[in-house]
Amino acid sequence: MTALPPSLLPATARVDASGRLSIGGCDVVDLAAEHGTPLFVYDEEHLRARCREAVAAFGDGVAYATKAFLCGAMARLAHEEGMCLDVATGGELEVALAAGVPAERFVMHGNNKSEAELRAALTAGVGRLVVDSFDELDRIDRLAAEGLEVPPLLVRVTPGVEAHTHEYLRTGIADSKFGFGLASGAAQAAVDRLGHSPHRLAGIHAHIGSQVFDAGFFADAVAVLAPFVVPLGLEELSLGGGLGVAYVEGEQAPSIAEWAQVVLAACDAAGIRGRVTAEPGRAVVARAAVTLYRVGTIKDIPGVRTYVAVDGGMSDNPRPVLYGSGYEAFLPRATDAARPRQVRVVGKHCESGDVIVHEAMVPADVAVGDVLATPVTGAYGHSMGSNYNMVVRPAVVFAGGGTARLVVRRETYDDLKARDLGLG
Ligand code: LLP
Repeated sequence: MTALPPSLLPATARVDASGRLSIGGCDVVDLAAEHGTPLFVYDEEHLRARCREAVAAFGDGVAYATKAFLCGAMARLAHEEGMCLDVATGGELEVALAAGVPAERFVMHGNNKSEAELRAALTAGVGRLVVDSFDELDRIDRLAAEGLEVPPLLVRVTPGVEAHTHEYLRTGIADSKFGFGLASGAAQAAVDRLGHSPHRLAGIHAHIGSQVFDAGFFADAVAVLAPFVVPLGLEELSLGGGLGVAYVEGEQAPSIAEWAQVVLAACDAAGIRGRVTAEPGRAVVARAAVTLYRVGTIKDIPGVRTYVAVDGGMSDNPRPVLYGSGYEAFLPRATDAARPRQVRVVGKHCESGDVIVHEAMVPADVAVGDVLATPVTGAYGHSMGSNYNMVVRPAVVFAGGGTARLVVRRETYDDLKARDLGLG
């Protein structure tokens, strides 16, 4: 029955006397009319505030994990606010470099970096490279032998800590494709190998998982890592990303500042003296955005349920399908209205699993033609979007100061055909 909790909306969200929502001073129903739907609306001030919070909490070296949401405007914004950029593929590197962010501000990740990706990273001059395997070390040796300069290296370690999150989002456990196991001795072997190499070992990296609500798991990871990390006396320990965010009513997550406090206190207590960094993605961008859809059909199946179909779906937000993730839905024309009606919000893709919100509570008068919004969709929606059913990917606007700038245009049918060499 309850209205949408304002805590799920971006920082500059305002609701006027008639219930209409604005973000960054822009009426979002108007934005939907102007730019079409589905539309990602990011609150620019919210993004900047989260970046500043991360830099204030961790200091220089903290990186924004671009996989959560990347476009030129976002890469520049994070850079302007003092964050480094974590890129995990050659494509992320290419896009973020093209945005004009200096290469030395990059941390290059990836569990299976190709020689071409490593070559691109070394040629560009990335600031740090996180090594994930012995095979990668072989490739780095080969590239160094060609005369390419190798940046300071971090060794990615899997500490064997099980964070309570979705199985697919856990990465710190021993049975993982990522990094060098601590328990198996692989991490020590990697450090030993680098000790006998000309490369500079600058630090250790660990990422225990994503959407982790309890900062205590990060403290656990620090405690497990400390006996390995402290004797090495390295410059840096990066604890990766993973801080969870609240997606639905009733969930609670620490702020970036609170998370940093727990992590830094644990490092201090464990005697870790180097700089401590992190790579938040979701915590920077998730709550910054809402997705706007247009309601196209409402099917009331008596005794079963009501389906509200919108003009997007699993192609702009695959998280409900992939992880069973929950979202809220609301009508930005009546943002603070009671939501007594239970419906299932579905997309336009040709499968029953194409669900955006399984049990959405919406105002009783929801109607065809309404703009329906899902909050907290700034992370891993646009970035994991697809062209399934040849649906074009949505546009993205950054709203702030009363104007909304289009930062990613909507895909067109011409874009869909551009790579297809079989078309006339
Ligand atoms: N650093 C590393 C090495 C990572 O692998 C990740 C995320 C991050 C940082 C950023 O994590 P965050 O702060 O965003 O949790 N697609 C999934 C999330 C996958 C996260 C993968 N790695 C989702 O939609 O929930």
